[in-house]
Amino acid sequence: MKKIAIFASGAGSNAKVIIEKASGYEIALIVTNKSNAGVLAIASDNNIPSLVIDKEKFFDGNGYVDELRANNIDLIVLAGFLWKIPGTLIAAFPDRIINIHPALLPNYGGKGMYGHHVHQAVLDNKEKESGITIHYVDGHYDNGDIIFQARCPIMEHDTADSLAKRVQALEHAFYPKVVAEIVDKLTS
Ligand code: GAR
Repeated sequence: MKKIAIFASGAGSNAKVIIEKASGYEIALIVTNKSNAGVLAIASDNNIPSLVIDKEKFFDGNGYVDELRANNIDLIVLAGFLWKIPGTLIAAFPDRIINIHPALLPNYGGKGMYGHHVHQAVLDNKEKESGITIHYVDGHYDNGDIIFQARCPIMEHDTADSLAKRVQALEHAFYPKVVAEIVDKLTS
């Protein structure tokens, strides 16, 4: 069975749905950069080992490649992980690191574009639609080949909050499915 590591910095709602819907693969490790991240409770509730990583070791060491290899990780799934992925880790897992972003990339991505910053920028620009993007990870924030996008409309009285809820519903509906499809491709 293929083994997945989920990297998350925050609440971990995407990690939670991926764990709940996991079938045919194993969520073997939760990785976070924050010792108080909500995702740690989700890991312990589901008896999944977790790892709180250190900034210096992540960026100046070997990006925790040894620890990921020791856990036989096949695929890394970023779910609200806010640090850039270092080149050492990308080189060790080519085309095996994916990310989700709460907007239609290539627009509204990049450093500092997370959470409400994204949704407010979309509203400020009077866009008619937003959505989600799932993509492979390269050395830049929110860059890399796009695997999947889903769209939702923007309503007249939307706030960053109401738009965030609509976008999050798309994330929860589609991220587990896309992860399953990528695992299938790794297996076949
Ligand atoms: C998600 O909306 C995800 O798209 C976003 O962080 C949130 C994490 O929520 N990621 C980015 O903005 C990446 N640039 P969660 O902790 O509830 O899963």
